[in-house]
Amino acid sequence: VYENSATASKKIAAEIANLIQVKQSQKQPCILGLATGSSPKGLYAELVRLHKEEGLSFKNVVSFNLDEYYPMEPDSVNSYVRFMQEQLFNHVDILPENCYVPDGTLSKEEIRDYCDQYEAKIEALGGIDLQILGIGGNGHIGFNESGSLQNSKTRLVALDHITRVAASGDFSGLENTPRTAITLGVKKIMEAKRVILMAWGESKSNIIKASVEDEVTSQVPASYLQEHRNATFILDQAAGSKLT
Ligand code: F6R
Repeated sequence: VYENSATASKKIAAEIANLIQVKQSQKQPCILGLATGSSPKGLYAELVRLHKEEGLSFKNVVSFNLDEYYPMEPDSVNSYVRFMQEQLFNHVDILPENCYVPDGTLSKEEIRDYCDQYEAKIEALGGIDLQILGIGGNGHIGFNESGSLQNSKTRLVALDHITRVAASGDFSGLENTPRTAITLGVKKIMEAKRVILMAWGESKSNIIKASVEDEVTSQVPASYLQEHRNATFILDQAAGSKLT
């Protein structure tokens, strides 16, 4: 639990920078699992600063985003492709061909094979070195909503009502908010060698307590992380305020 989200975000950025550099010195790619949403914005801003002011290079980074709305055009204002370009990719020297975000433009028939290939790419690179997560008000990680199983694969999911309500501001109303999304499954998240979940603010405090201190349950997918051997929840004081 950190004093505030700015300090916490810098701490996470420093860990990522260190991992990228260790991998560079070993002439290895660094495989990052990335999240969108409001929580990682400060982290991405700090990574951009480290690139511009301290020479951190992303040339050996391969990134896999957790999710994308479906259907979604990549150049739409609400696409996660666009979010990542604006928050991170356009401001660092990561190679565009190394930035993977699930494709929201496929036909329904193509999605299953596409999701299998997304996982196969991750596996071919040796798995995710470090996975960044936010948490939904219902405990979702990625868009693995309540009820998602621990061995769930990358797939098309129906978004929970609470998730759509949270997103509806961006889509100017619930009626315009997507009902489905493609998400990395819980299994690949759990296979990541290191997981950092970040949460800020009082509104996350109850679900943080449930995820960390209550029983492991599919109702709160973030609770699965209790069984991960190298997962850390990084919180500001408000998000951590209900922990005993
Ligand atoms: C986004 C994602 C979601 C968000 C979560 C929290 O890629 O996977 O699980 O991390 O909904 O969103 P914010 O950070 O906006 O509260």
